[in-house]
Amino acid sequence: MSYLFLFFAFVRLLIQTRGRPTVPYGFRSAKHVLVIGIDGLGAVYLNNATHLLPNFSLFYKNGSAALTGIARSEMIAVSAPNWAAAITGMSPSQSGIIDNSWTPSEGSKERNEEMRKCSMCSNNSLEITPSESIGDVTVTVPSLNINGCATVTYEPSAPTELHRISSLATTPEPMWVSARKQNPLLKVAVVYSWAWIRHFVSSQTVDWSHNCKGNDKECIEKLIEFISEGSPQLSFLHLDSIDSTAHLHGFGSQQYYTVLKKVDSYIGQLLEALQESNKLNTTLIMITSDHGGYRKYHGHFNEENIFIPALFLGPGVRRGASLTNFISLIDFGPTALNALGLKPGVHMRGHVIKEIYAH
Ligand SMILES: *[C@@H]1O[C@H](CO)[C@@H](O)[C@H](O)[C@H]1NC(C)=O
Ligand SMILES: *[C@@H]1O[C@H](CO)[C@@H](O)[C@H](O)[C@H]1NC(C)=O
Ligand SMILES: *[C@@H]1O[C@H](CO)[C@@H](O)[C@H](O)[C@H]1NC(C)=O
Ligand SMILES: *[C@@H]1O[C@H](CO)[C@@H](O)[C@H](O)[C@H]1NC(C)=O
Ligand SMILES: *[C@@H]1O[C@H](CO)[C@@H](O)[C@H](O)[C@H]1NC(C)=O
Ligand SMILES: [Zn+2]
Repeated sequence: MSYLFLFFAFVRLLIQTRGRPTVPYGFRSAKHVLVIGIDGLGAVYLNNATHLLPNFSLFYKNGSAALTGIARSEMIAVSAPNWAAAITGMSPSQSGIIDNSWTPSEGSKERNEEMRKCSMCSNNSLEITPSESIGDVTVTVPSLNINGCATVTYEPSAPTELHRISSLATTPEPMWVSARKQNPLLKVAVVYSWAWIRHFVSSQTVDWSHNCKGNDKECIEKLIEFISEGSPQLSFLHLDSIDSTAHLHGFGSQQYYTVLKKVDSYIGQLLEALQESNKLNTTLIMITSDHGGYRKYHGHFNEENIFIPALFLGPGVRRGASLTNFISLIDFGPTALNALGLKPGVHMRGHVIKEIYAH
């Protein structure tokens, strides 16, 4: 009787083991990961123009893509907090990077200045406007005086505390540092068009880096050189020409789409370079952005600003899949590391975007 029981238990185990995928949800599915960050690429604009963009279209056809509204930028729709989210896997409140003035030593300069001014307000009397009801929650909103100071009493230590939180006295850990803590030999390339990204790059943490200072063409040439001559396992690319065109001519303008076509050809050049160095079928490529925009600005909370693309192409990635689960920028770090067979960094708060894999 007990032998019979053991036999059936064994058969059941055999069936379960055979049914279980050997590579769960993309873990260790890629030898290389390339994260492409395209500044100011709103999903409403990209999704509207894929017929003009053969290389972006490959991601929709051969890979997985998020529909408009599924991938979102963090609050607020400006560059630094969102690139930090993509690079560190932490939202702005976690990284302390809340605006473009952030530097590793000083934190958010603008916010610190604001707090410093408020702490010096001569009139810090507690003045509360009448309570407002929002649904079943009652909130009291402190009014702002003429200096932009909230008329609440700040503890004397408040500005110092905020300074400490927003700077963390150091740079929040980028995904390549999290990766190297697990595999010190991992090769990393970071190429960027917006100089602010340099805060995440040092000769100790990155093997190849280049600041192309707004010249996207130069960025592409450099990264192709790094891919062909070196062999980075983790690469991060930041392109800026779409955002700078949007600020000049408007999001969704004719010029915006013209530059987007140019960026499509850059993507094509990268795919070609990966193919030529026999890395295309072993590379997970992820494309995303920091924010969209409306007219010549960004920073507001509407779909043109908040919706960003999330496109995936690579080994094991579902072909032609439209993603329907919510995707945040903080998920890109964990997903990159997972594909390389690494765990998310300890500070990362996003999770692996499992939906891009069949199992
Ligand atoms: C896309 O899929 C087609 C087959 O449908 C294949 O020939 C082509 O090489 C693929 N391209 C990429 C970049 O994956
Ligand atoms: C503080 O400012 C409020 C208006 O913001 C004013 O009504 C009040 O009289 C002021 N109090 C003092 C002590 O100056
Ligand atoms: C989408 O494209 C159409 C024409 O192809 C254009 O009229 C419309 O303004 C575009 N929408 C956006 C958000 O750019
Ligand atoms: C991708 O872009 C290149 C230009 O870099 C272009 O020659 C190629 O035809 C594009 N790919 C496809 C599939 O159309
Ligand atoms: C990738 O393509 C190369 C040829 O370009 C081939 O030799 C290799 O087996 C392929 N690897 C995978 C994992 O498909
Ligand atoms: Zn930006």
